Amino acid sequence: MSGEEAPTQQQQPEQEKQSDEPPPAASGAPPEESRSSPAAEEKPLSSRALVLTGHGGYDKVKLQVKTQSKQLKAGEVLVRVKACGLNFAELVARQGLYEMLPPPPVTMGMEGSGVIEAVGEDVKDRKVGDRVIVLSRSGVWQELVVVPADRAFPMPEQMSFEEGAAIPINYLTAYLMLFEMANLRPDKSVLIHMAAGGVGIAVTQLCQTVQNVTVFGTASASKHETIAQGGVTHPIDYRTKDYVEEIRKISPKGVDIVLDPLGGSDTQKGFNLLKPLGTLVVFGAANCVTGQKKNLLAMAKTWYNQLSLNTLKLMQANKAVCGFHLGLIPDEELISRTMFKLLELYEEGKIKPRIDSSYHFEEGNNMYLYCILNTMLCCKLNYPTIYTSRTETIS
Ligand SMILES: NC(=O)c1ccc[n+]([C@@H]2O[C@H](COP(=O)([O-])OP(=O)(O)OC[C@H]3O[C@@H](n4cnc5c(N)ncnc54)[C@H](OP(=O)(O)O)[C@@H]3O)[C@@H](O)[C@H]2O)c1
Repeated sequence: MSGEEAPTQQQQPEQEKQSDEPPPAASGAPPEESRSSPAAEEKPLSSRALVLTGHGGYDKVKLQVKTQSKQLKAGEVLVRVKACGLNFAELVARQGLYEMLPPPPVTMGMEGSGVIEAVGEDVKDRKVGDRVIVLSRSGVWQELVVVPADRAFPMPEQMSFEEGAAIPINYLTAYLMLFEMANLRPDKSVLIHMAAGGVGIAVTQLCQTVQNVTVFGTASASKHETIAQGGVTHPIDYRTKDYVEEIRKISPKGVDIVLDPLGGSDTQKGFNLLKPLGTLVVFGAANCVTGQKKNLLAMAKTWYNQLSLNTLKLMQANKAVCGFHLGLIPDEELISRTMFKLLELYEEGKIKPRIDSSYHFEEGNNMYLYCILNTMLCCKLNYPTIYTSRTETIS
């Protein structure tokens, strides 16, 4: 659906003040291909966006119309977004718990896919019409987005826009944790929590690119068949069973790698479950998130129960503890290299995002917002489907 077809129930046009505001006009004349016609240039572009208007519940995310200049800075591309991903971080950001998102009003969205509509000066290896995956700190939940050209990755031909939008956050996180931090090798064992989630599915698929890796995955029972088909060797229902006991029954010595997105007491349990020379990677604090709004009690409990260690004890335990935060990796080259590696794995058929649901942008009313932002709550309520990467389709 194009911007011109915007439904009338939308809110009044509103321009955001924050950092995802459109870039200022570039100095000097942009190249030929970055402009369509002089008349089009004079008019600012308008596009619909899902804007976080304040911290709190679902009602804080509103569909609005934003305007932005069509002029690009050198090295930038303008992308018409076709699909964008919804991540756990956005649920947390809505509650005001994600430090990487600028304060409201701000358009959320860290990943998406679409077609390049214009390129700025000095952009040599991307052109108008290219299908690309985009990665950004925020701002992708809108019809038109401006990103640096090196944050627009060419999509393989056979990849759908939905799949493209579901790759970056989940798979970069999974890949960098497994291979850069935990050094996954053949014959090792891995425990992944939230195994039915986007990162969990990506971790499971990437584990299968290495010979004879055993995957323990925690998830609601209703999702076990699917995650087992996807490669989890031992699905464990963490709601009804003690996952530590279950793992010890199968592997008395524990596991080689624990990937912990939960925090609090689960980090302690994960550390204890490690075999000697094993590695714990802490990459989230989902235990803090229990409902629509910030839960101070859950946050305090998670904080109070977190793993506390001194280095002497760590040395004596012969274990490694790492922390991972994709948004704080300063090495742009590492991110690009890993994205290209992931696209290669996709082309070889070794990874494939599992899309649970897509929602059309034209359903842009409160009900729709409720649906997409309610996904985690649905999961907690044993919603019958698996939310891997939720993708919002704009066209
Ligand atoms: N550090 C980083 O750079 C980084 C990057 C990406 C993601 N993450 C973290 O990775 C985690 C997973 O993210 P995701 O996008 O994969 O999640 P997701 O797709 O939203 O999946 C969530 C899944 O986890 C389960 N779940 C939901 N809330 C839970 C909770 N409070 N405790 C335990 N299980 C819960 C649900 O399944 P069940 O029905 O089976 O419970 C659901 O299927 C989050 O903690 C997120 O913050 C970190």
